This record gives sequence, structure tokens and C-alpha cells, in this order.
Amino acid sequence: MTLLSTFRQLVKEMQRSEAEGYQQASLSEQKVDGEDFIQTDVCPKAGDFILDLGCGTGELSAYLAKLVGPKGKIIGVDPDEERIQLAKESHSQIENLSFVEGSAINFPGIGAEVYDIIFSNHALHWMSNKQQVFNNMFDSLKVGGKVAVQYMSYLPLFDYNAYVLLNPENAERIFRLFHLESKTKIERYCLSAGFEIIRSFDTHCKGLVFETVQELLEWQWSGTYGVFDPSLVTEERLQKYLAPYTDEDGKLSLDFRGTKHEKVTASRLKAVKKDKEHS
Ligand SMILES: C[S@@+](CC[C@H](N)C(=O)[O-])C[C@H]1O[C@@H](n2cnc3c(N)ncnc32)[C@H](O)[C@@H]1O
Repeated sequence: MTLLSTFRQLVKEMQRSEAEGYQQASLSEQKVDGEDFIQTDVCPKAGDFILDLGCGTGELSAYLAKLVGPKGKIIGVDPDEERIQLAKESHSQIENLSFVEGSAINFPGIGAEVYDIIFSNHALHWMSNKQQVFNNMFDSLKVGGKVAVQYMSYLPLFDYNAYVLLNPENAERIFRLFHLESKTKIERYCLSAGFEIIRSFDTHCKGLVFETVQELLEWQWSGTYGVFDPSLVTEERLQKYLAPYTDEDGKLSLDFRGTKHEKVTASRLKAVKKDKEHS
């Protein structure tokens, strides 16, 4: 069986929605990066009230809920109806966690200075009008509250090539899904909203390793809300795409954490809403 027919078979057999595919794929990718970000930079405290903006299927919201304990509370917000539904079903047993369909311009507590932390993992680059997004976050945090955002400021080459080489028919549509902006611009939006930046830096992605081609293709499919179409991937296209990741002995390595091929980096930003008198 070729790689491609194996993948086709997998897609046929799984019969799962993009949201379910996303949930599965993100467990080994964005969840790894997100948990690292939470542990090293976000550092939530027991009792914190946190908004997880662009929570997807809620795995990190659930992790945050555990960290803030029973006196804390997490609200996960995402505009994707299916992902929010799946988040609710998957984490219904966690009492201090709730999920709401919404967005960066429409979420519970907007403008009400109620949150201790507004957290967002790999979602900012999906949002347009980022100045508005930062203004909303600022107005929704308590004085002394923090915003902690991990985002992409560019499209990694392995993603770019996947769209262009494996899905040329849909590449333009896929590119239009993203709202990528430089770190300098993001910092400017953050400062203009009134925040004081504590840290803004790039870090190697820690979760970007795919065990199989199927896993990588499923990631592309579910991560683009199904716009990346596996049925357009031909054997010839796949061979061209995989060539840089294959050594002389034919061994494939789909590891993008910075050890072998591309060193994919994400940007992290942590900023505080200071009391006006002390800023
Ligand atoms: C790559 S996923 C990340 C999900 C989750 N934070 C994680 O780390 O697994 C990006 C999420 O941002 C959401 N999103 C897109 N536009 C948004 C907006 N304007 N406001 C809030 N969330 C948005 C998407 O629906 C998607 O679930």
C-alpha cells in the first residue's frame, strides 16, 4: 500500500469531523507548546479567573482549570461551533470550567475588568483587527491583570509547502484563513492598548513532530477547517513534498522542533495592565 492510499483509507475509516480531527492532532502539537507556555510564562495562581481566547477544543482550558483549583475559574471562548461543542462534551466533569461560543470581539466579561489573566494559545494569528483585540483584552482585565499570548508571526515552510505543493488548487483559500503579523506590530498593538510589556520573545516550537505522514496530513486538514483537501494529494505531489524530509536511506523524519529541518519558532508575549497612576 502506498503512503497515499493508506492516508485515504484512514480518512475514510475515521469518519470524524474536523473538530474531532483537530482535537486529536492538537494533543501532540499545540497542547505540548501550550502547556510549556503556561508552566514557564503564564504561571497562573490558585483562585485566578482566566479567559482562554480561541480555546479550540479546550484541552489547555482544562489544564488551566486544574492549576487554578476550585476557587479559580476558566472560561474558554471560540467562534467554531463544533469545537466549542466538543470542548463542552469532553470536559463536562470539570466544575470550574465553562465554554462559550464567541470571539475576540464578543466574549463574556468584555470591557468589565474581571479577568486576572487573558490567555491565548496559537489563536492570535487567526484573528483580524488585532488592535481591537488588544483593546478588548485590556478593557476586560482587572488592574494588575496579565495578557499571555503565544502566536505565529509567519507561516512555517513545512506548512507553506504543504499548501502549495499538495493543495495548489486550494492554497490561496488556505492563505486567506491566516492573519499573520510581525512581532513588532503585535507589540505595537499591545502597547497602544495601554499594556506594559513584561516579555516578548521567540521560542522553538516543542510539539511539532509528526510520527507519520498521515498524522501530518490530518493536521493540515483539521487545522484549516477542512480547506486543505486530502483528496487532492497525489502520490507524485506527496513525493515532491516529502523529499527534503527523507534521508539517503529513504528514512523519513517529520520533526520541525528545530533539531533536523526547519527551526520553527512561535512568539510569546506577556504584558500587564498597570494601575494608571503607577504606569
Ligand atoms: C490553532 S487553534 C488553537 C486552539 C487552542 N488555543 C489550542 O492551543 O489548542 C486557533 C483557534 O482560534 C480560533 N479563532 C479564530 N478566530 C478567532 C477569533 N476572532 N476570536 C477568537 N478565537 C478565534 C479558531 O476557531 C481556533 O479554534
